[in-house]
Order: sequence, then C-alpha cells, then structure tokens
Amino acid sequence: MQAIKIHGGVPLEGTIPISGSKNAALPLMTLSLLTNDRFILSNVPELADINTMKCLLEQHGASIHRLDNGNSYELKVEGLLSSEAPYDLVRKMRASVLVLGPLLAKYGQAKVSLPGGCAIGTRPIDFHLKALESLGAEINLKSGYVEAKVPKHMGRLKGGHIVFPSITVGGTENAMMAASLANGKTIIENAAREPEILDLANCLNLMGAKISGAGSSIITIEGVEGLNGINYKVLPDRIETGTYAIAAAITRGCLKLTNTDPNLLEAVIIALEASGVNIEVGEDFINIDTSKKIRGVDIQTEPYPGFPTDMQAQWMALMATADGAAMLTETIFENRFMHVPELVRFGANINVHGKSAIIRGSEDLSGAPVMATDLRASVSLVLLGLATHGTTVINRVYHLDRGYEKLEKKLESCGASIERINIK
Ligand code: UD1
Repeated sequence: MQAIKIHGGVPLEGTIPISGSKNAALPLMTLSLLTNDRFILSNVPELADINTMKCLLEQHGASIHRLDNGNSYELKVEGLLSSEAPYDLVRKMRASVLVLGPLLAKYGQAKVSLPGGCAIGTRPIDFHLKALESLGAEINLKSGYVEAKVPKHMGRLKGGHIVFPSITVGGTENAMMAASLANGKTIIENAAREPEILDLANCLNLMGAKISGAGSSIITIEGVEGLNGINYKVLPDRIETGTYAIAAAITRGCLKLTNTDPNLLEAVIIALEASGVNIEVGEDFINIDTSKKIRGVDIQTEPYPGFPTDMQAQWMALMATADGAAMLTETIFENRFMHVPELVRFGANINVHGKSAIIRGSEDLSGAPVMATDLRASVSLVLLGLATHGTTVINRVYHLDRGYEKLEKKLESCGASIERINIK
C-alpha cells in the first residue's frame, strides 16, 4: 500500500499552477452521452475520479482518447452499448450517478446503481429522482439499482417544474442535462449556484441547448431536439486553489497560484484575509503572503457562494495552528468531521459539539502517523503535516489521488519535503 511521508515545518515558497476542476470535469464528461458528435474537453485533470468516469462512459459505449498525452480528451458516443451504471463503478465514485439524466434524455432508459453511504454521510439521491420524475420519467428501485425509463407514449422526457427541497449540486446537474433534451420548457427552482453548474450550462449552451439563469437559483431550460459536439475548456479547480492557499498560510509561507480564477473562491479569500493572510489577486492568479500571525476565524459551510464544505477540513487544519480559537460549523453534510481524530493525533485541540467544532490553536503540534478517510480529510492531514515539525506518514493515499493532480510534485517544487512510499 502507498503512503505519503512528510518532513514538515518548512514555509512553502514558489508558484503552483492550478489544474482543471474535478467537479466540473465529471459532469462535463457525461455530456458526451447527449450527442453523437465528437466532443473535446481540455484542462481535464489527471485524477483517479476522471479515470473512473472514463471507464463508466466507455462501458456505456463511448470511445475516449487522450490527446497528445496531455489534459485534453476526445469523447464520442456513436451508439449505446449498455444503459447500466454498475455498482462496482458507482460505489467507487458517487458522481457516477450523473449519467442518469443524460442516458434518460438521449436513450430513454437508464439503470444506475444506488451509490450507498460514504465516509461523509448517507448522501441520498432522492432529489435527483424526484426531479427526473417531474420530467415524466418512470422510476423504480430494484435490487440496489435505480431503473428509470421514459414511458413509450411520451417518446422523450417532457419539460416540467422542479423545486429542490434543499440545494443539491449533482441534482441540479442531472436535472439540467435531462431537461436540455426534453420536450418543452423546464424551470428549476432552488437550483445550486456553484460555478460548476454555470460551467456545465455554458458548455451545454455552446452545444445548442437553451439554458438561462444558471448561476442563480432559478434556471430555465427550453428543451431542444439535439445537441452538437464542441471543444470546451474546463474551469480551474477552486477547491485545489483554496487548498494551496491554505498550504501557504499554514506553513507561514508565500505562494503564487496561477491558471486560476480568484472570483471562484471569494468566501475562502475573505476568511483568509480575516485570519491575517495578505492576499493579492489578478485576473488569473492569487498571491498569498503569510508574514503575520494567523488569527482564529469562525466559519460556517454553506452552498455557493458561501464557504465550501469541500474546504472545511483544510480550514480546520489551519485553525489548529492559529493564535486563538475558532468555531467551525458544517451545515451541508451530517458526518463530515471524520478528520478530527486524525488532526488530534498531531496534538490539535479540537472539540466537536454536534454540527460545530471548536478549535483552539496551538504552537505545540508535531508530525504523526495518520489515516486518510476521504478526499478533503486526507489533504487536511497533508496540510498539517507540512506545517508541523517532525515526520508525518499518511496512509490510504488513494483518496488524495481522487482529487489532487500531481500533489507531491506541486508541493515539492515549493520546498516541501514530501514523498510517496510503499508500506506493507
Ligand atoms: C457535490 C460535490 C462535492 C461537494 C458537494 C457539496 C461533485 C462531484 N461533488 O456533491 O464535492 O461536497 O457537492 O458542495 O460535484 N442530498 C439529499 N438528496 C439528494 C441529493 C443531495 O438529501 O438527492 C443532500 C446530501 O446528502 C447533502 C446535501 O444534499 O447533505 C448536498 O449534496 P449535493 O449538493 O447533492 O452534493 P453532491 O452533488 O453529491
């Protein structure tokens, strides 16, 4: 098994280029199911989750080629080989359920495994299913699978009125993709406003869809009869950007993050500035300079444009090193404090009370052997490992490979002592 070994305590200095967004690239890849044309995506990060989506789409019948061994992929689905998303792939990656909307809209049927629970909670997909029912789909749950079809007399999905009971990113994406090829007009209320939704809508519109309002809480979609292939560049990864911004702050270093868009992470920048970090932003870069002490700053996770839940564990790691206390409240997922016992192994002073955690910053932290539980939890351990003196060994690194492209290389180039090792 692989592990990551860090000798910490070195302030990071240098430049880190930000990769394309994983959470934008995954739904964008499923758009290949909505057209028979050649579809080219660039700025796709090289990650385990992208590979899982590639395998899933290939078994549906897609031919996918990586261009010039780089970050561009050509995807083409000439005909459907299978409308089933099997358990083995869906359990590896929840985002596999994003094939449901496209399969149903284009081919009139889909059989997708229920994703089951995951380390950060039960994470049901009931809102996705209700939304697709509002578009006329018939849905049955059988033997752990969602079996969905468009009734024969309808021919294709029909436009409908969807009101999400609470904000769901994946649910909004599935509904938007399905409605793009439906007959008539769909209105989605209480839609997620994440930048990845806007990116998906922009791409769909270039393919010929008629979507307005994406990025706001009401999205209107006029269904069209077909979509064409295009060439599209995935937006920068705002969570990777925020993670490296915290890497600079937690090591009291100085980093320039390039190929990114500061507008995508305003809530994180505001929190960092409140903690005493100096930030300079340009159109496509962020400079982070941590010459002052880090103060404790309370945050609460919220749907976009609030503070992202995917940055919560990293913020907690930073607060463990701050001067003073901070309260952190998780409002999106019910079980997203799995990293707390691992952060405590470094000597962090953290108490969890229901949805909130109190972190009392300390200078008395040291490296430790720890275990990763999910993607963002893993990177919070890397961050605290970089900040603390001594050696940290992080087990179960496969979580990191799901979401951080060339993590060790990027950190090493800024002075970190970090390596991948094999352990028994
Ligand atoms: C996406 C992101 C993930 C991020 C999350 C919240 C991708 C691939 N993943 O996940 O990194 O942490 O948004 O920003 O983009 N819920 C239901 N029923 C549903 C759907 C969701 O109860 O049918 C609940 C979930 O359990 C959760 C909340 O709604 O508590 C938000 O989940 P959602 O926005 O759907 O997250 P994902 O799209 O799965």
